[in-house]
Amino acid sequence: MSVRSAAERTRAALRNGVRFEVPPDLRGRSRGDLAIRAAQAVVGRYVDLVGGWDYDDAFAVHDPNADLHLVVTGRTVVAHDENVVQLRFAAPAGGVLPSWNPGAHLDIHLPSGRRRQYSLCGDPADRSGYSIAVRRIPDGGGGSIEMHGLAEGTQVVVRGPRNGFPFVPGGKALFVAGGIGITPIIAMTRAARRLGMDWQLVYTGRSRDSLPFLDEIETWERDRVVIHTDDVDGLPTAEDLLGRAPRDGAVYCCGPVPMLDTIRAHFDACGARALHFERFGPPPVVGGVPFEIELASTGTVVQVPADESALAAIRREVPEVAYSCQQGFCGTCRVRVLAGEPEHRERRLTPDEQRTEMLPCVSRCDGGRLVLDL
Ligand code: FES
Repeated sequence: MSVRSAAERTRAALRNGVRFEVPPDLRGRSRGDLAIRAAQAVVGRYVDLVGGWDYDDAFAVHDPNADLHLVVTGRTVVAHDENVVQLRFAAPAGGVLPSWNPGAHLDIHLPSGRRRQYSLCGDPADRSGYSIAVRRIPDGGGGSIEMHGLAEGTQVVVRGPRNGFPFVPGGKALFVAGGIGITPIIAMTRAARRLGMDWQLVYTGRSRDSLPFLDEIETWERDRVVIHTDDVDGLPTAEDLLGRAPRDGAVYCCGPVPMLDTIRAHFDACGARALHFERFGPPPVVGGVPFEIELASTGTVVQVPADESALAAIRREVPEVAYSCQQGFCGTCRVRVLAGEPEHRERRLTPDEQRTEMLPCVSRCDGGRLVLDL
């Protein structure tokens, strides 16, 4: 690779909206990850030197906790089974939205009061709108059904963008996506292609019909893309998922829990240096014991088994209870604890808040009973 060609590629990436910044963490704070910050410094200096980067600070102060009032401006079916829809949101009067980086997500506040998080899957250079894609899950919590029912013109409140799955724009990368987990991965892979990175993509799912964006992905470099479907190839093995991992490169992975567990269990042997992943759905409960939750409003006592989250148990009695990430970082499920000692398994609440509140999606109790303000 010559310096000249690298510079040209970098300028092209900048023109196309690839941003070389480390996003804030899930609470909107600067990241403390030294490796990422070091990479940012090196890449940022390089870009300053060869890319002529003119930093637009118009949105540097955007608070990801502030409400953005947007409307649905587009709706496109993006999987052949017709169960995945891409929705586009824009400001009612048009205009430019805060910037985002591949891997970022939005918190969507739905008209019903539900909140859900979806990865941005559009083009970061297109600042006139945000695109997400949603798979319909008939037996889920109702959020995906409501998202699929949003008509053009519907107003929603959006917070973010936030990034808990940052992409480092350089080096070698293997991207691994399972089903709807392609949404953050497709934004990263498009950026890697624009940057001229050495990349590979393994895309898995139940069947070709179920895979969003397959038509676009199959136009990409054939020697860099593997499509692996359960109905033809069987469940993917560790070799299927990690066989193309680059030595000393990075692996980015988003998909269902079993896929992530396989990758995490075999990552050390694959030769890559860094693993970045985002899961959807709750993490498995590890080391839990059974306990009880009393719902203060009704006196109902809910049994929480050792391998189930408190939120899942509560939802059996109160299906409309608020939640979103189910992983202890968004804060949507926070609830006041009226009696009992929670075992906090998150870092979202401050020690002061933990004295009176808990996040039942991940936190629980070491036996006994909690009385919650529900
Ligand atoms: S649902 Fe996000 S913190 Fe509990």
